[in-house]
Amino acid sequence: MREELFDPQKYWESYFNNIDLDSKETQELKHAAILESFCSEYLKAGSPVLDLGCGGGRNTIYLAKRGYEIYGIDLSNAAVDLCKKRLKKQGLLGDFKQGTFNNIPYPDDFCDAVICIASLDHVSFQTAQESITEIRRILSTGGVVLLTFDPLETDEDRMHEAEVLPDGTLKFVCGKQKGMLFRRYRDEEIRQLLVDQDVISFKRSAGGARIIIYR
Ligand SMILES: C[S@@+](CC[C@H](N)C(=O)[O-])C[C@H]1O[C@@H](n2cnc3c(N)ncnc32)[C@H](O)[C@@H]1O
Repeated sequence: MREELFDPQKYWESYFNNIDLDSKETQELKHAAILESFCSEYLKAGSPVLDLGCGGGRNTIYLAKRGYEIYGIDLSNAAVDLCKKRLKKQGLLGDFKQGTFNNIPYPDDFCDAVICIASLDHVSFQTAQESITEIRRILSTGGVVLLTFDPLETDEDRMHEAEVLPDGTLKFVCGKQKGMLFRRYRDEEIRQLLVDQDVISFKRSAGGARIIIYR
């Protein structure tokens, strides 16, 4: 019997294919609260911002409504389509492409800010390291990055559904999250990932998410 391929893209395609654009749940999706102070403290009006791992577009829509020049990348084509449709429906502009954190389909120095919310913890440590280098490539000089990682205790009750890869990343092999990768980062590991970056702020939300801003 052929072994089934482990394919995180397939997981995310199916996840976003099941989202109904017109559902109350989609309409009411709220942006990450940290974006409000991030915009007022760090972003110049109208500047180009890339949402890395844009998902269903809750954060992109918030930024587009505030007049930023919006770009979005996601592994999932279905997520990219969802963002395009949601922005169009609201008369907002944005450029969305399928791509990966460690191979961003945009040129060097092209944006002034990157947001990557609850997303970089969905790849292995090595891919996350490559992604930090890739973010640096596309960020303009003096550009700023907002990065968040989910709480360390995430998926505590689902550990039995995952294999633990040698670097500590969880590979979900059964259950609702089958096909998904997730890494439960300790603070020291996040700092290790960002060792060459100029970290301006490293905070914890009330719910335990780690919120990092760096240049
Ligand atoms: C938990 S969702 C967060 C989505 C969005 N940032 C938000 O806050 O609503 C994680 C997102 O990361 C995307 N993703 C997972 N692995 C990726 C990769 N290697 N490259 C780009 N996007 C990826 C998924 O498709 C998904 O949209």
